[in-house]
Amino acid sequence: MKVLGIAGSPRRDGNTDLLLAEAMKGAAHRGAKVKTIVLSDLEIAPCQHCDTCLDTGQCWIKDDMQRVYRELSKADRIALASPLHFMGVTAQTKAMIDRCQALWARKYKLDMPPLGNKRERKGLFISVGARSEDDMFAPAIATVKSLCRVLDITYAGELVFSGVDEKGAITKHPDALRQAFVTGQRLVDDSSAE
Ligand SMILES: Cc1cc2nc3c(=O)[nH]c(=O)nc-3n(C[C@H](O)[C@H](O)[C@H](O)COP(=O)(O)O)c2cc1C
Repeated sequence: MKVLGIAGSPRRDGNTDLLLAEAMKGAAHRGAKVKTIVLSDLEIAPCQHCDTCLDTGQCWIKDDMQRVYRELSKADRIALASPLHFMGVTAQTKAMIDRCQALWARKYKLDMPPLGNKRERKGLFISVGARSEDDMFAPAIATVKSLCRVLDITYAGELVFSGVDEKGAITKHPDALRQAFVTGQRLVDDSSAE
């Protein structure tokens, strides 16, 4: 079982990084092989909507997204962590998601498995936001669910915390890191990460 963590915050060692690290520890504790990629360390250009991928199933932009495609295709579980930025996922995360248009093309235009192989994949979304409002994570969750649908990844739920702003504030939450650890274990163990 391979678990890919995708860290989408530009703030290194921030709140979502800490949660993701705990979730990956939980997955590793259950025997999974874990690997985390940090989007802000990668060069990922935004999708140019050139439509080249509609004929080829490949994105012509040869940047670090090519590595992300490879990592996604090797993974059985994906934990995507992004804080809210203007109600949605971060720009780094959205650029990565939009570049999955090439995988959309494989699936819907070329009748190919989007990730090049068929296997049971599950995805978890981890997020935090500074504000405390009802449904504040709904737009970001909708984006991540859309990604999962396109990539044939079963959406296994989200772990989200509101009212979390300063770097490291999540460590003051009574049990958020523990919840993240357990959620990482469950992502490996069973069909639901909720
Ligand atoms: C550009 C930007 C936009 C933000 N937009 C929101 C927002 O719409 N809603 C919210 O609750 N918090 C928002 N925040 C606050 C972050 O979500 C919050 O600081 C979070 O703890 C950062 O997580 P991180 O440490 O993993 O980067 C924003 C922060 C930045 C820098």
